[in-house]
Amino acid sequence: MCGIVGYIGNQDTKDVLLDGLQKLEYRGYDSAGIAVLNEAGVSLTKVKGRIAALRESVDHSVHATMGIGHTRWATHGVPSENNAHPHQSASGRFTLVHNGVIENYLELKEEYLHDVEFHSETDTEVIVQLIEKLHADYGDTAQAFREAMRLLKGSYAIGLLDNEDQDTLYVSKNKSPLLVGLGEDFNVVASDAMATLKVTDQYLEIHDREMVIVKRNSVELQKLDGTMVTREPYRAEIDPNDMEKGTYPHFMLKEIDEQPIVMRKIIQEYQDEDNELKLDPAIRQAVKAADRIYIIAAGTSYHAGLVGKSLIEKSARIPVEVHIASEFSYDMPLLSENPLFIFISQSGETADSRAVLVKIKELGFPALTITNVPGSTLSREADYTLNLYAGPEIAVASTKAYTAQIAVLAILAVDTARAKGLELDFDPMQELAIAANAMEILTDQKEALEQLASDYLATTRNAFFIGRSADYNVCVEGALKLKEISYIQAEGFAGGELKHGTIALIEDGTPVIALATQENVNYSIRGNVQEVVARGANAMVISMRGLEQDQDAFVIPHVHELLTPLVSVVPLQLLAYYAALHRDCDVDKPRNLAKSVTVE
Ligand code: G6P
Repeated sequence: MCGIVGYIGNQDTKDVLLDGLQKLEYRGYDSAGIAVLNEAGVSLTKVKGRIAALRESVDHSVHATMGIGHTRWATHGVPSENNAHPHQSASGRFTLVHNGVIENYLELKEEYLHDVEFHSETDTEVIVQLIEKLHADYGDTAQAFREAMRLLKGSYAIGLLDNEDQDTLYVSKNKSPLLVGLGEDFNVVASDAMATLKVTDQYLEIHDREMVIVKRNSVELQKLDGTMVTREPYRAEIDPNDMEKGTYPHFMLKEIDEQPIVMRKIIQEYQDEDNELKLDPAIRQAVKAADRIYIIAAGTSYHAGLVGKSLIEKSARIPVEVHIASEFSYDMPLLSENPLFIFISQSGETADSRAVLVKIKELGFPALTITNVPGSTLSREADYTLNLYAGPEIAVASTKAYTAQIAVLAILAVDTARAKGLELDFDPMQELAIAANAMEILTDQKEALEQLASDYLATTRNAFFIGRSADYNVCVEGALKLKEISYIQAEGFAGGELKHGTIALIEDGTPVIALATQENVNYSIRGNVQEVVARGANAMVISMRGLEQDQDAFVIPHVHELLTPLVSVVPLQLLAYYAALHRDCDVDKPRNLAKSVTVE
């Protein structure tokens, strides 16, 4: 949800800004801009569209050693050059980029800025105009910036340039991510360390409602009341190669293929030398002590939560509720006496999930975050964290993070079961290793899946996914993958439910993809397939070895029934990928979406 980069040093800043923004495009890509500052003043370039278009529009003859940049996912105001950041104050003295949503922008406008003419429809412009107003009162930029930050309500990560000061970059954050990267004779600012890893691996966290005065050779961290803060930097442990596509045409395909490797990495990370499960004993204790678990998540992570519920209930025998984060915030169910909250989030930054975390922390309940980004907001603010070890996931449509989440949930479920002394006929590491091999077999079957995508999904308007029990949980994820990247209207249904209404939409040739990997419902799901075929559907059955029938379109290898989602999702991911290719869609950056959703 919008990405920010800033640089102050001795080198020309354009490349650091443009390269950084390119790495942040996953956060939004509808418009972009940079502002660089030198003796001649600010040079501003904004475009509607992607960073590639921005790169073309930038005046490469301008030399400047400080600047800020932004890639946008529109909230207030349509994607346009005018609404793109950076925004400037009325006199042009102040230039600012912002990620987040200012909740009180109308009040601020009314109270402080009624005489100011606005040039965009954004809430962001209010911030920069407000800084200019306050500067007129205080005569000092740091003070005006601080006061402005104190007046803002909502979420923000902000970078500010002052035309009259070529030595300082002002930054601050609240609820939106922002880091300061430390270099020799330069410093950078970024929404994500990935953006500036090329220039430094040393980073300083900024906490909510802190501001930083960033100069070429110093970084001064302070609270909004002016108190100085000292904090040690940390090393960002991201392998820069993980952020490149290599020989792959798309990140999504690379990330689908990486799933077996991620499974093996998880096995390695969560197992000690004696092959025992290796989990923080405090986490074990917290899960064991819970009388009910509330899983909170959004999007694909929510779907992983549905699988997690069944893993935990079946293995550890603790009741689990799975909630959509944005719903839970405003409509909290009755809670049990000793709940444990598990937040599942690839990015660890999803604003909807964070809103719930803040609320339940106020109520004093324990929280565990399962995330791919240690050090992310949800990880820092929860009591415990379990890492996914999936490596950076760049494609907007989540694939390897989903399977990593399920694998970690399986380990947690079994660990809890063992801690409770429950007998289980399930060795998670062995079964995960078998699932990893099965995934590899599937990722080698791309041609067959490409053909199926072409036969069933190349021209259709809609598609349905049906399955029962564990398969149903995967169907909702399969449908989400398909709609996200191919724009085919797709829905996942419990096998028995389609006929209670939606079957009315089945016409001659409507694709219905059915999963059949569960022995106890194999007979029933096949009955549901017959029902839709009788109404003209073009059914594609994906079954598991041992349960297959002659007419099935695709058969996945046999894995433990608790782990079938790890494997059955792979053909659905590849079907979505090839359907999107057939329909000429932008696989890695689908329209209207962003990977990290940092606004509620
Ligand atoms: C966005 C992404 C999805 C993701 C969801 C939750 O909508 O496009 O791929 O599943 O956010 O994100 P999280 O980082 O919390 O898992």
